[in-house]
Amino acid sequence: MSGFSAEWLALREPYDRAARNATVLDAVAGAFNGHGAIAVVDLACGSGATLRAMGPRLPPRQAWRLVDNDLGLLAQAPQPGQRPPLTVVVRPVDLVRDLELALEGPLDLIVTSALLDLVSPEWLDRLVVEAAARRLPVYAALTYDGRAVIEPSEPFDGELLDGFNLHQRTDKGFGAALGPTAAARAVERFEHLGYSVVQGRSDWAFGPDDRPIQDTLFAGWAEIAARRARGRGSARASPRRPARSAAARGSTARRRE
Ligand SMILES: C[S@@+](CC[C@H](N)C(=O)[O-])C[C@H]1O[C@@H](n2cnc3c(N)ncnc32)[C@H](O)[C@@H]1O
Repeated sequence: MSGFSAEWLALREPYDRAARNATVLDAVAGAFNGHGAIAVVDLACGSGATLRAMGPRLPPRQAWRLVDNDLGLLAQAPQPGQRPPLTVVVRPVDLVRDLELALEGPLDLIVTSALLDLVSPEWLDRLVVEAAARRLPVYAALTYDGRAVIEPSEPFDGELLDGFNLHQRTDKGFGAALGPTAAARAVERFEHLGYSVVQGRSDWAFGPDDRPIQDTLFAGWAEIAARRARGRGSARASPRRPARSAAARGSTARRRE
């Protein structure tokens, strides 16, 4: 178990799909225009959302290697042995220990979604070096950049977001995480090794009817705030956001890049 439940990944998948930056997707698709086949590795694939989002944009014959360390999520990923032109191999790999193993063998493209903000600067450097050594293009999507706009606002929104952003910097298994600094750092590191980078916003946008994801997101923020308050020994009750009223009256947008 990685701490990312299948339910949470399923809840966010349509918002992630809508958020994926079209210019960046076009650049990836354009790089393989005219190719008949492609071999892709998806690092930290979860239940396979990136394959579902990108598959239609890539050459017709596709070989996907799906890598994650959560067997429960991998069990929900598109299964091996699907009929050609799509083949899928599922690999349980701990990317902290065995990134290089995940990248072994013939590949045309590395993809990863919602991973880079979880990793340390050192692990990111390792990924960049390994990708550059293999001369492979990289599609890294949905990296949280720390910004959120909440309308209508509530008194504790700023405090809750600050707490969440601090939590984003904590160790998720890869060492102290880059959190909201990950996207900028990735661009800098890839460019440093000679990559030309196409980047763009990939905001989540939640409207008044998107209550389940708003409720889940704000509950997570409130839980982190409560934990931080307990850690500080604070007597004050932790701030709680009346998510339902916000959902009913307004909209929430969370910006990721
Ligand atoms: C936010 S989820 C993203 C999943 C998927 N890419 C998506 O967009 O739906 C992060 C993923 O990283 C995986 N993960 C976390 N630590 C890992 C590790 N050490 N090795 C391999 N996968 C890991 C989790 O199991 C989870 O599937």
